[in-house]
Amino acid sequence: MHADLLGAERSVVVSTPAALSVTGVSKRFGATVALESASFACERSEVHGLVGENGAGKSTLVKILSGLVANDSGTLQVGGRQVRLWSARDAGKAGIATAFQELSLIPHFTVAQNLLLGHEPVGRLGLVSGRRLLIRAQQVLDYWEADRLPVDSTVADLSLADRQRLEIVKALRKEPQILLLDEPTSALGPRDVEWMNRQVWRLTKLGSAVVFVSHRLGEVRGFCNRVTVLRNGRDVGTLEADQASDEQIMRLMLGKEVSAQYRTKAAAISSSDEPVVEVEGLGGGRELRSATLTIGRGEIVGVAGLQGHGQRQLFMTLFGAARRDRGSIRVGGRPVQFRHPVNAVRSRIGISLVPEDRKHEGLFLEMSVRDNMSLPSLSRYSHLGLITERSERSAVLGILQQLNVDPRKIDDSVSSLSGGNQQKIVIGKWLMNGSQVMLLYDPTRGVDVGSKAEIFQLIRMFASKGGSALFYSSDIEELVHLCSRVVIMYRGSTVRELHGEEVSREAILSAMVGAEDS
Ligand SMILES: Nc1ncnc2c1ncn2[C@@H]1O[C@H](COP(=O)(O)OP(=O)(O)OP(=O)(O)O)[C@@H](O)[C@H]1O
Ligand SMILES: [Mg+2]
Repeated sequence: MHADLLGAERSVVVSTPAALSVTGVSKRFGATVALESASFACERSEVHGLVGENGAGKSTLVKILSGLVANDSGTLQVGGRQVRLWSARDAGKAGIATAFQELSLIPHFTVAQNLLLGHEPVGRLGLVSGRRLLIRAQQVLDYWEADRLPVDSTVADLSLADRQRLEIVKALRKEPQILLLDEPTSALGPRDVEWMNRQVWRLTKLGSAVVFVSHRLGEVRGFCNRVTVLRNGRDVGTLEADQASDEQIMRLMLGKEVSAQYRTKAAAISSSDEPVVEVEGLGGGRELRSATLTIGRGEIVGVAGLQGHGQRQLFMTLFGAARRDRGSIRVGGRPVQFRHPVNAVRSRIGISLVPEDRKHEGLFLEMSVRDNMSLPSLSRYSHLGLITERSERSAVLGILQQLNVDPRKIDDSVSSLSGGNQQKIVIGKWLMNGSQVMLLYDPTRGVDVGSKAEIFQLIRMFASKGGSALFYSSDIEELVHLCSRVVIMYRGSTVRELHGEEVSREAILSAMVGAEDS
């Protein structure tokens, strides 16, 4: 199918027009050029990858195609016909549906209400029938093999991964001719990624065209027919996905050779004698049964587990953001009991958390980059209660540089940054505040490969200066790459610990799915 498509596209003068074509599209936001004459085309039944560094313009392109942002120039064609998309409604009429990077769900509505928003079944009196809504929504979930989603739960109570799954089903449900997926898998583990691929494949069988935005190059190569690379708002190349290597794609993304940093495994940082954090039999809530682990000085300990196996609760409990029912936490040899995150942050040792849902838990979107970054560390930059602006500013600029975020954005509101750059700001703010224990929950989610290497570098630097890090990632490769010790969680408990040479993708995976031995 793949070869035929490409063959057809190359040999014929366009006998069948592309399902979607974007030609010379530009968009500016004030002084920022988000897109500059970007073009690409997607065929019927094709999955077309769209990759690029944070801020390259991917989401802006998706929003233009979804009718949410108006392009300054350029044309959009669907099935060979030029379309003008002034609103989300226009996009819907043109057969386009989108799963957004920043999720479009209404938090206080249920799964069913979100799923059928605007298409609620009405009863005889013209009122929405709650019962029929549930039945219909359940049918939709079953059809897309997503029956694990609790149809009657409020979205605000769902985990980020469940919200992401719902966002995907909500778009699939429309069986659109063109499906746009903006980093749909950023919070999903390997099983859910397989699930999504399967559903999307079903859709392409009906002739739909799919645009898939992701930073996970492995997924892109495995899933897409072709991939287009954006750099600084321009398309700089389209490759056949199964023939392109990560290096090739990265070179196009960055416009230069990629540093070897990301590819070489981190030298194991030897942990010292005394553990800084000791957790024993920790349990709380429904998810966390019994977690036992230690983190030494200068150590990066990895945590692996399929979604919903207690790792999230573990991080929240360690940070004082969730209740502890059982077990003990010792920090620096002393038992601690944080009733609130403030106590964790302010404790002598300083514990910080990069949370799962950074947009809601980690940032004040309307405040500037600088204020967000320096908030937790104000005391360090104040003198007699006055913040010395110069020292604060230069500290922030230093971190921005390390994170590869444009320093000119220092006074812009965080909401105007690209999704990935927002995430980097959250990590930056904790790197600035000098805490000794860092809890990193999927810190590179949505971050581009180049910046990922830089974030890894920062985490390693933090550890080499004596910091202790606990690192969960939904991407197993990252655990293998960064950690010399990985603890695996299964059904709410730590079930296995892998050391040194034992740390491999296969060993982690088999322990994650509860295999007897690995
Ligand atoms: N509403 C806005 N106001 C001002 N600038 C914006 C706005 N939306 C996007 N930008 C800017 O446009 C550029 C492209 O952003 P976009 O969100 O499209 O990037 P992206 O490729 O999706 O990145 P990421 O991988 O981080 O999600 C960035 O410099 C961003 O700061
Ligand atoms: Mg984006």
